Parts: sequence; structure tokens; C-alpha cells
Amino acid sequence: MKLPVTFNLVDITVGRHLGLTRTGQPRLNQLRMLGRPVMALARAATLVVAFSATRAYSADIGYLAPPGVAANEFPSPQRPVAQIASPRRSAEEHRDAMDEAGQIARLLELKPGMTVGDIGAGSGYHTVRLSHLVGTAGSVVAQDVRRDYLIELARRTELLKLTNVKFALGEPHDPRLPASSLDAAILVHMYHEIAQPYAFLYNLTPALKRGARVGIVDLELPTSQHGTPIELLRCELSAVGYRAVTTYKLAGGGGYLAVFSPPEGAGRKSPRDIVACGDRAGTR
Ligand SMILES: C[S@@+](CC[C@H](N)C(=O)[O-])C[C@H]1O[C@@H](n2cnc3c(N)ncnc32)[C@H](O)[C@@H]1O
Repeated sequence: MKLPVTFNLVDITVGRHLGLTRTGQPRLNQLRMLGRPVMALARAATLVVAFSATRAYSADIGYLAPPGVAANEFPSPQRPVAQIASPRRSAEEHRDAMDEAGQIARLLELKPGMTVGDIGAGSGYHTVRLSHLVGTAGSVVAQDVRRDYLIELARRTELLKLTNVKFALGEPHDPRLPASSLDAAILVHMYHEIAQPYAFLYNLTPALKRGARVGIVDLELPTSQHGTPIELLRCELSAVGYRAVTTYKLAGGGGYLAVFSPPEGAGRKSPRDIVACGDRAGTR
């Protein structure tokens, strides 16, 4: 991703004069010697750097595709939808200790050169790991409904010098991704937050290449408790025409990985024919 022009040309120059690092942090040991007025000026400059960088990243982040089918064409879920509470599932060290990213990559057979969608990327735990895995011949599409999360993630990938990550803003009922752009999609600890799952799954379908797999990771808990009972998940995906391929239990208490193949051709239902799943055991 390109470095924002304002950040490059203006703020870094100003920042250097004020003893700022490239990320806008003052070099404290230098500044301590210069006294309070310079510290105050440095803090103000840091805010300017952060503000203009945010504006520039924000301008870069938008929808990658025109709208799909409107939400009101689909049934609403007949069960609670969890509120978006955080851009991450849990501490990254803990997730690394259970090799969450490695398990998902092996089970979904993710490989160098692929384009993988990290749907509901949040703070990008999977995005940064997938970026290394797919390499420069591949790419990662970090997608989310929260622009502020994507802006933070753009900063993170910039600092890590990852050049193969694209950012995609979505709507709760529509991921807004380009047609036939993904070899695989992962939805990790986010399915229970999708406000309009039937519309979302329907509008996701065109973005998946022929033979693509969708991997959904979640906990066997009611949706109100930030999980999705596997029976409910299978019912909702099958209502839109997705086929359940297999389900794995992730080692280390990471929940399950359920793998689906998207509907193709005649398997794609018309929105009006989609029937919502009932509120089943374990979903309250
Ligand atoms: C608990 S976080 C998980 C983030 C990341 N996948 C992880 O495993 O750390 C859930 C994320 O899903 C996003 N989200 C919720 N509803 C969404 C939707 N309809 N489309 C895309 N992202 C969504 C939230 O904004 C949030 O970033």
C-alpha cells in the first residue's frame, strides 16, 4: 500500500525537525533536554501527523465493488446477533501458542500465490500471517465493516512493510468484493456479528472463484455469547445454497473450523426463496 503523500512529504519533514521517529513518536531522550515548550510542540506535531495519516489512509479505504442485492430482499436471522465489541478475538500470543493461523492454513490448504479474503479482519491477526503465507505472488484482501479498524490495520501493514494486502470496506449485508477475486475466504470469530447473514452470504458468492472454499471459525456457543452453534451455522449456509464440506475441531480450545463450498449455477437460490432457520437449541 502506498504511503500517504501528506505523511511522506510534509509531516515526516516537520517531524524530523522535532525529533520524531517515522511513526510520529518523539525521541524522548532528545526531547527531555530541550524542555517543556518543545515537548508541547512535539506533542502537537505528533497529533498533526496522526490526524493527517488517518485522513490519508481513510481516503484509500472504500468499497471494492458495486452493491449487491439489498438487505430487504432477504429474511432476517431468527436468533440474536452479537454486537461488534472489539477488532480482535483474543491476545495474539495466546493464538500463536495454539498455532491458530497455521491450523487454519493447513486445513484449508492455503498456499503461496493464492488470493485469500480475511472477512471481518479486525486488527488483522490473520491478515498479517496470511500475507507472509501467500507471498508476493499472492494477496490478502482485508475486509471489514468498520473503516476505523481498517485504517488501523493499514497502519499496521505499512509498519510491517507488507505490500500484498488490499483493504475492502463492506456493509453488514454485503462484503462489496470484486467478482471472482478470491481463491478462499476465512471468517474468523465474526460470523455471529453479521447482522444480515443470508444477504451477506448471498452477496459473498460472486467474489469466490470456482472451487473456492469458505472457512468459518467460531465457538460452539450461542450467538448472543459470541459463538455460533455448528447446527445453526450449517442451517444458515445451506439455506443460501452453500454445501458443508467438513468440520474440524481446532486444537488448543480455538473452537471449530467449518469448511463450505459456495453455491454454483443452479445451486444459487433466489433471495425470495431463502427461508430463515428457526431459533434452535443453544442459540439463545
Ligand atoms: C471479534 S472481531 C474478529 C477479528 C478477526 N477476524 C480476528 O479473528 O481477530 C470481529 C470482526 O468482524 C467484523 N464484522 C462484524 N460484522 C461484519 C460484517 N457484516 N462484515 C464484515 N465484517 C464484520 C467486526 O467489525 C470485527 O472487526
